[in-house]
This record gives sequence, C-alpha cells and structure tokens, in this order.
Amino acid sequence: MLIRIKKASDIDSRELTDKAVYESRREFLRSAGALALAGAAGVGGLLASAPVTAGAKLSDYKKGAYGAGLEPTSYKDITNYNNFYEFSTDKEEPALLARDFNPRPWTLTVEGEVEKTGTFALEDFIKPHALEERIYRFRCVEAWSMVVPWIGIPLRDVIKRLQPTSKAKYVEMRTLYDPKRMPGQRRSLLPWPYLEGLRLDEAMHPLTLLAVGLYGEELPNQNGAPLRLVVPWKYGFKNIKSIVSLRFVEQEPKNTWQVINGREYGFYANVNPQVDHPRWSQARERRIGEFLKRDTLMFNGYADEVAGLYAGMDLKKFY
Ligand code: MTE
Repeated sequence: MLIRIKKASDIDSRELTDKAVYESRREFLRSAGALALAGAAGVGGLLASAPVTAGAKLSDYKKGAYGAGLEPTSYKDITNYNNFYEFSTDKEEPALLARDFNPRPWTLTVEGEVEKTGTFALEDFIKPHALEERIYRFRCVEAWSMVVPWIGIPLRDVIKRLQPTSKAKYVEMRTLYDPKRMPGQRRSLLPWPYLEGLRLDEAMHPLTLLAVGLYGEELPNQNGAPLRLVVPWKYGFKNIKSIVSLRFVEQEPKNTWQVINGREYGFYANVNPQVDHPRWSQARERRIGEFLKRDTLMFNGYADEVAGLYAGMDLKKFY
C-alpha cells in the first residue's frame, strides 16, 4: 500500500517465503503463545462471552461448495504474513503484536438507512449453526495471493435481518478504534478508524462473507478477529478486519485507502489484470508458498458470478 516504500514488483520471493525468518519468529511466538493458550483452556467454542484466545476450534460448520481444485495456503503463511496496520505495517509483526488483543466481548453498531438500528452483541449476528467453510482465492493489491479456507456466514443473511430502507444504497464498515489495544493506531499512519464500503448489491452478493474463522478455528487476531469481511473478487484492502459498525447510506462512502491516495486505490477495487496499479502491473501475482508467478484472473476467478454487477461500467474509471 502507499506507506510501503518498496513497490510490489520489487518484492523478492525470498521475502515472501523465507521460512528461516518465520521459523525463528514462530519459535518465539510458540513459547509466548503457550502461556496465552493455557489461559484459554476450557473455552467452549465460538462466541462464548468469556475471553477467548485465537485458536479455539469451531465445530458444526458445514462445508460449502466453493473452492474445488484450490489448494489452501498453509496456516502458517496465512497467519504470519498479514496486512493489519492497526498493529504494524510489517507483514510478520501483527501475529506478535496482536497476540494479547482480546476480541471478547464484542459489539456491532448498526446505523443509518435501516430498520433495526442499535448496538448488538456479536452473538446476535452470527449463529454458530449457520457457519459455512468456503475456500476462496485472496488477492492483495500488492500482487501476492493466497487461498484461504474461511468460515463465516453470507453478509446478505445479516443484512436481510437488519432490513435496509429503500434509501440504503451502500454499506460502510468500520474497524475498532482503540489505540490502547491497537498500537498502530497510536501513530497517524492512516486516518483511523479504518473504513471500507460496498454497494448494497455487492454486499448482498452470495459470495460476500462475514468471516469468524479460518482453518476450522476462530479467526486469529492478526487476521481480523472476531469478525472481518471477505469479498473474494476484490483486492485485499476491501476485506476490512475487526468490524464494529455497519452504516447504511445513500451516497458512496469513502474508504480509507481512497482517502489516503485516491489515484491509486478506488472504491471498487475489483481484481482486474487489465487495469494496472499506477506503480505496478496487476497482470500477474505471486501465490504465497509458490515460486513462479501465475496470471491474475479477472475478478480473481469469480467473473461468472460477479461480472453482471458491473455490466456497462468502465472498469478503468471505476477501479
Ligand atoms: N483491515 C484493517 N482494519 N486494517 C488493515 O490494515 N489491511 C487490508 C485488509 N483489511 C487492513 C484491513 C489489506 S491491505 C489486506 S491485503 C488484508 O486485510 C490482509 O488480510 P490478511 O492479513 O488476513 O491476509
């Protein structure tokens, strides 16, 4: 993203895959994490209101149909190569710096053009029996990608229950702002809190997921515990983490990266190999854990499902 000094095209494959670096850091995390896990013993699954440490197993979720033929990226890479500026701009540090973040209890505020406004406990949004695993491609704007076995519920199910009014055209989402718990927010790297938005039909699309877990476990803090957005046909930055508010609005909301640098990051951020980022090509990507680059697919491989949402739009203009 903007704050990076290197261009994505400058990223050395060793930087992405250097296991020695991971291993030494993992060793530290393992010993530090053992203490935290001891504290979590006896935690009874998803959404218990007691403090929960990442790693609690999820049960009872069904396996969705998405992801046939995709080989998930390793748990280690998914949870140690993160973008989460609320903790650090470094890729490996969020795992370390978010270790003690406690995502319970958690509430969500619903505002704007919607019948059911108010502040709700997370438990009221996500019912464990409704959870589904979906293996999705994940493509970062920095030209790397992963395959992630998410667990979550379609955002549309939540939105239907909230009953948007006829004026609701977009939904804006906001990350927690709590500099005491999120050390990156003590610096003015970004205009906090992190904001993202979707057009209502994008938010209601069956592929759009509110994720609470991955690899059969609750979301690790560094991946956006306890609740994050997953929109698999858009660049990674649209996938806002640790969401505390949903606001239904009439006008297109601004998202954080667009505010910072609207020339490079737009509202739509649809994965599109034909529209380059102003500083690098988006035609190819490096899948973490692989050596050779692969071609980036239109809408990240979900064109059959989502191209209709953008029929008639100039995708160079609405990037
Ligand atoms: N959400 C918040 N609140 N803060 C962030 O810094 N980074 C975004 C997105 N969501 C970010 C965020 C970016 S740039 C990417 S690529 C993805 O999260 C990374 O998600 P991951 O760490 O689970 O792979």
